[in-house]
Amino acid sequence: METREEREKETLLHVPVMVDEVLHYLEPCRGGVFVDGTLGGGGHARAILENLEPRLYVGIDRDEEALDVALQYLASFEDRIEVFHGLYSQVGEVLEELNLDGMDAFLLDLGLSSLQLEGEGRGFSFQKEEPLDMRMDRSQELTAAQVVNTYSQGDLERIFREYGEERWAKKIARNIVDTRRKFAITTTTALAQVVEWSIPKKFHPKKIHPATRVFQALRIEVNRELEELERGLEEGLELLRPKGRFLVISFHSLEDGIVKRAFREWEKRGLGEVITKKPVTPSAEEVERNIRSRSGKLRVFEKR
Ligand SMILES: C[S@@+](CC[C@H](N)C(=O)[O-])C[C@H]1O[C@@H](n2cnc3c(N)ncnc32)[C@H](O)[C@@H]1O
Repeated sequence: METREEREKETLLHVPVMVDEVLHYLEPCRGGVFVDGTLGGGGHARAILENLEPRLYVGIDRDEEALDVALQYLASFEDRIEVFHGLYSQVGEVLEELNLDGMDAFLLDLGLSSLQLEGEGRGFSFQKEEPLDMRMDRSQELTAAQVVNTYSQGDLERIFREYGEERWAKKIARNIVDTRRKFAITTTTALAQVVEWSIPKKFHPKKIHPATRVFQALRIEVNRELEELERGLEEGLELLRPKGRFLVISFHSLEDGIVKRAFREWEKRGLGEVITKKPVTPSAEEVERNIRSRSGKLRVFEKR
């Protein structure tokens, strides 16, 4: 029998961020073809299927485990969903396979899923000792351990600075290279320790663990997240039908900056309208209920 803890964990797997706001901005697309480029646990998918009667709901995820979980969760909508293992930037190929020439809504919810954060052996979190993996798609070759143990000091420094906005990037990269001369850094906790040592105590951030930024940077590098976002934005725009809506929820400033610039640029080129002049953020009540929503920002663009 399932324990209460297991049941709570199971529920958490599917809790979508800013779901009321997402439903509100997708209302004009009711009844259309929806593509969810980051299906995850299927939380947004279920809310949309229950409320907006999509003709077809297409779910894409690069994490095969997420697809299994989502399929179970969405079993009662079987006749209206199609799922694909792959990248959201491949949305064109997915639609082609379904013989569709476009979509009415495209949703990207860019954070990590609870499955990835809390699942066994995924290596995204410094909270527990695990192999340093961080691949969203476990069939991919490059892992975080490879990055940490084989990239040059200069490349590590650049990644920590650019993708983690980490001001101690140089010192951390140097200490990683010194450490790995003695032994390979293969676990999340070993890396977190090296990072902690590298930042003088009085400069440890107050609200987050000192390794948070380095872990974010590695995750972005391993999964090529920013390149993927740039490609996904272009592909998505191309395939949206007139009046189609593009919704993106991002969780850090690098992603949000890319989305904001792209939407503004499209509007300037007369391709449509930015519906959210300012990003929409979760209510205080949602943040209290679901701490993960805390840094979420939703932006919406409508194609002409
Ligand atoms: C925050 S979760 C999505 C949660 C989902 N909206 C829900 O309500 O359950 C993000 C998901 O996007 C997937 N993902 C991230 N980048 C991707 C990409 N480039 N292509 C396809 N899936 C991606 C991750 O594997 C993860 O499962």
